Amino acid sequence: MFKSKNPWEMDEVRIVVGAMVILAFATALLVVIPYFLLDDIKAPEGLKPYTREQLDGRQVYIANGCVYCHSQQPRDSAQGPDSKRGWGRASVAGDYKYDTPHLLGTMRTGPDLFNIGARQPSKDWHLGHLYQPRAYTPGSIMPAYPFLFEVRNGSAKDGEEVVNLPPGYVKEGQVVIAKPEAIALVQYLQSLNHTYPALNSDVKETRDSN
Ligand code: HEC
Repeated sequence: MFKSKNPWEMDEVRIVVGAMVILAFATALLVVIPYFLLDDIKAPEGLKPYTREQLDGRQVYIANGCVYCHSQQPRDSAQGPDSKRGWGRASVAGDYKYDTPHLLGTMRTGPDLFNIGARQPSKDWHLGHLYQPRAYTPGSIMPAYPFLFEVRNGSAKDGEEVVNLPPGYVKEGQVVIAKPEAIALVQYLQSLNHTYPALNSDVKETRDSN
């Protein structure tokens, strides 16, 4: 006659239950607890929400994989020389209030961009650098993004954004015009400015000041 077994003695049940316990533990530690810890963090006073155009630029940043080479998370000076590199104070949770999803990044093939708007506010520089990084930083390994621009024989129409490139990067009789994606992307880059003091955070800034 069939004899029913105690399910806890079956290996399959133990494996499945064990896996679920580990997964639940990891989810609690990495998702649920941080959610409650960070849920009521307010945006610092100096942080402005993105405008419509800056948000469009943020999408261009995501679509073009800028995050694969650029981080947006300056570290505390105890962890690395980021502030000496001019990348700004260590970021705090509130700095990311309007960033969904955040673009922290994991690679630093290029510099951290969390404060690029303060470090390099020039629209002309950004447009030209996106069109041809080597025109501004000799030997740069950053890819060019020519498809965000239109190269045209003749002249620009009213209201179009002509890119002022260094001599030699645009042929005689041609103009390089920034497409709306490039203009939005540069507005987003210019908005990356978290140089205000991180006051309403419980992370102390003392280490950066010495
Ligand atoms: C393959 C890696 C790579 C990718 C992808 C990349 N970059 Fe870069 N980026 C670099 C490197 C390396 C530098 C430093 C040399 C230079 O200035 O060109 C740099 C520099 C920069 C700078 C100047 C930073 C400073 O501190 O002066 C900006 C702004 C920038 N990149 C924006 C972007 C944007 C926007 C994108 C996406 C459209 C992008 N990058 C994609 C590697 C990359």
